[in-house]
Amino acid sequence: MANVVIIGTQWGDEGKGKIVDLLTQYADNIVRFQGGNNAGHTLVVDGKQFIFHLIPSGILYENKKCFIGNGVVLDPGVLIDEMEELRESGLPVTPERLMLSANAHLIMPYHRVQDGCSEAALKKGKKIGTTGRGIGPCYGDKVLRCGIKLGDLLDDGLFRDKLKENIDEKNYLFTKKFGADPVSFDEIYAGAQKHLEILAPYIGNVSVELDKARKSGQHILFEGAQGTQLDIDHGTYPFVTSSNTVAGNACIGSGFGPAHIDAVIGILKAYTTRVGEGPFPSELFDATGDELQKKGGEFGATTGRKRRCGWLDTVVANDAVRLNGVTGFAITKLDVLSGQKTLKIGTSYEEGGERLTAMPGNIRRAERVKPVYEEMPGWSEEIRHAKCVDDLPAKARAYVKRIEELTETPAMILSVGPGREETMLLKNPFEK
Ligand code: GDP
Ligand code: IMO
Ligand code: MG
Repeated sequence: MANVVIIGTQWGDEGKGKIVDLLTQYADNIVRFQGGNNAGHTLVVDGKQFIFHLIPSGILYENKKCFIGNGVVLDPGVLIDEMEELRESGLPVTPERLMLSANAHLIMPYHRVQDGCSEAALKKGKKIGTTGRGIGPCYGDKVLRCGIKLGDLLDDGLFRDKLKENIDEKNYLFTKKFGADPVSFDEIYAGAQKHLEILAPYIGNVSVELDKARKSGQHILFEGAQGTQLDIDHGTYPFVTSSNTVAGNACIGSGFGPAHIDAVIGILKAYTTRVGEGPFPSELFDATGDELQKKGGEFGATTGRKRRCGWLDTVVANDAVRLNGVTGFAITKLDVLSGQKTLKIGTSYEEGGERLTAMPGNIRRAERVKPVYEEMPGWSEEIRHAKCVDDLPAKARAYVKRIEELTETPAMILSVGPGREETMLLKNPFEK
């Protein structure tokens, strides 16, 4: 029995979906525990691409059970669309294969409106560049104790009362502050009834089910979304998402005890990308950045925006090792670096005459830091065919080894292409 958490170590889009899909063969249960449909997790199986925003990336295996935990913010319309797409691909989702926590908070239509209005009202330089999915406003209401939980839909009186109170408040905000149109109670209520009709059989107590699974010796895989530098507490605040993205939240966001976690796999892209606004010390503004963007196909899987690209930064990687207790890395997209004559790795920062080895908490300092780089020779060979470490050019092996040294963390998985089979599993985290 082993329970494994997967998290992003950078600013998201490290390839979590692919690695979750790969490791699902060793797990019985796959759990999303935070974030919502701001996530876009890509899987390529037998040449066919799937992008999941809400449903755990383990869903392609028919005999595994997927869970959406209490820590997720759930947009029911998006979930139903995703279920429908899977059905059309010949993979119908049933309550035997997917359970939704009754305690997950619902992203309501007014959260999306609020996300859009708030972003539009921010001045240049202050915009977050959110995905516009209503994530921040939904988590905001949760913390303000006025949010609506999925399970509330099952109690019509409770749901009506909460919806009415929320809509009164939101419409005041929309019309008086933002000069926007009010939203309609009747429309939102009717929409929610349609969603309930479909989703009711899926609602349950995820914590209880995971406890049963653990006690019966099953393996559980927790699928993080976003990345460590987007964490609401530990990231480059305020240019972050509105949830804790670090491994500790796997427990809180699913109702699972921390003593039962056996391994934390940090997904580390072999270079760095960021989508949206905010500090990015090793960002490249030159032809090399454009090359990585093109070769890596770096477009957001949720919003289609171009991702900003830069060198690998082990200050960021070391922050992730510390904040998540990373026991091993999955290093992805190594193939994208093929053809670079010289590779740079940011190993510390300089700011105000000081040398820093962690991202500063002060956002203005985080914007000013300059990375200190070391250089390594790159390799020219394409490496997507590599099946074992010995198939890699010596310079690629040296790059991986240097990452291990700088982070004092072993590479357990190497990924050299988007496909499930384009992966080297050096150590299986489910084997103790
Ligand atoms: P996630 O949000 O962390 O799941 O990552 P995304 O799916 O948003 O972005 C990762 C992108 O890289 C997807 O298009 C994947 O198919 C792709 N990908 C994953 N691993 C590799 C790899 O090793 N090499 C290449 N070339 N592409 C990869
Ligand atoms: P996955 O799981 C990359 C970014 C947005 C924005 C900030 C806040 O695919 O790695 P939000 O809509 O969450 O309020 O936006 O966070 N962001 C992501 N960036 N990958 C993601 O998810 C992201 N989810 C949110 O671009 O900068
Ligand atoms: Mg993504």
